[in-house]
Amino acid sequence: MTTERSGGLAGRYYTDSEIFTAEMDRVFARSWVMVGHASEVAEPGTVITARVGDESVLVANDAGQLRAMFNVCQHRGHELVTSTTARLDRITCPYHAWTYSLDGRLLHARGEDVGDVCVPRVRLETLAGFLFVNLSAEAPGLAATAPGVQDDLLARVPDAARRVLSARLTHEMRANWKVVVENYNECYHCPNVHKWFTSGVVAPGSYRIASGGSVIHHAAERPGQPPAWTGPDTDGNGARTGDGDRAGDGDVAATPAGNGGGAGDGYEAYFVWPASAIQCYPGQVINTFRWVPLAVDRTMLIREWWFDTADLTEAQSRLVSDDWENTVAEDFGIVESVQRGVASRGYTPGPLIEDPSGVCGVHSENSVRHLQDLLLASLDGAV
Ligand code: FES
Ligand SMILES: [Fe+2]
Repeated sequence: MTTERSGGLAGRYYTDSEIFTAEMDRVFARSWVMVGHASEVAEPGTVITARVGDESVLVANDAGQLRAMFNVCQHRGHELVTSTTARLDRITCPYHAWTYSLDGRLLHARGEDVGDVCVPRVRLETLAGFLFVNLSAEAPGLAATAPGVQDDLLARVPDAARRVLSARLTHEMRANWKVVVENYNECYHCPNVHKWFTSGVVAPGSYRIASGGSVIHHAAERPGQPPAWTGPDTDGNGARTGDGDRAGDGDVAATPAGNGGGAGDGYEAYFVWPASAIQCYPGQVINTFRWVPLAVDRTMLIREWWFDTADLTEAQSRLVSDDWENTVAEDFGIVESVQRGVASRGYTPGPLIEDPSGVCGVHSENSVRHLQDLLLASLDGAV
C-alpha cells in the first residue's frame, strides 16, 4: 500500500481551554448529539436528562408527546431535574419551587405573577429509536446529517426502535474528547491493543472505515467461528436468526465492504460527529457510546447496551463485562497517555497513515484526518 503522510493536529488543540470553549459553541451547540432512546421515555411523565457539550437538556414525555428543552429554570438558573431519570406530573424546580408543565410552560411561581415564562425548547429527532438533540435552530436535520444511517441500521436490526436499556457503564477519562473520539474511529491500534475484539468480535483483515460528512461507518466480518455470546441458531439478542435479511441499502457514506453473513451477522458501527456512536455486534446486539466533554482534559464515557428486555441473560451479561474489561477499558490508559503526550514540550504531530486507495482498513488513519478536518471546518479560524 502506498501511504500519503501528513501531520495531525498540533498539541494545543487538545490542551487549550480557549479551543475547548470554542468547541462547546461551534461544535456541540450546533450538532446532533445522542441523549438516549425513545424507550426510556415511553411512558407519559417520564423524563431523562443528558449533557450536550456544556449544557444540560431534558427530554420529557408530555402525555405521549416527546419534548426536549434546556434543563434550566427560568427564575435563577437551577437545573430543573437533577437526576438522570425521573417520573413526574410536572417539573418543580428544587431551588424556589417554581413549577412547570412537561411542555416547559411555567404553571406557577408560588403565587407571584411573573408573566408568561417558558423553558426554551431544543430540537429533538430520532434515529431508529435513538434520541438526538440539536441546540441550533439553523443546523440541517438529523436525516440530512446522517443520511441512510437509520435505514441501514433498521435493515440490520429491524427491532432497534423497540430495544430497551439493559446496561449502562460509565467512566471518566483524563483526556480531551478528540483524543478519545479519534481513538474510537481508527482501528490501526486494534490488532496491537484489542486482542479479544480482534479475535472474538471482528476479523481484522475485513475491517473497513468509510468517512463522509458527519458519519464514519465501520464494518467488519465476524471471525470465522460464531461469537461466544450467540448460540448455533440464535442471535445474541435471544431471537432466532433470519428475521432481518434485507441487505443494507442505505447511503451511509460509502458503505464499506459487506459483512458477508447477512443482516446482524457482522460488526457495524455508525459514528455521528461529534460524540455519538451506535454499534451492532454480530447477532443483532446493539450498543452505544456517548462521549461527554467535561473539560479540556476530561471526558465522560457513557456505554449502553440495548436488548429486548432490561434484564440481561447470563450470556449477555458476560458479553457486557467482557467488552468493558477486554476492549473499552484497554483504551482508558491509551487515551490518558496520549493526553499527557500531546501536552508535552517534546511532542510534534507525526504523520497520519492515510490509505489513498480509499479501502481504509485496520492499517489506516484516514478517519482521524476526517475528524480533524471536521473540527477545523467547525472552528473556522475562530481560535
Ligand atoms: S431557580 Fe428555579 S425556582 Fe428559583
Ligand atoms: Fe481502542
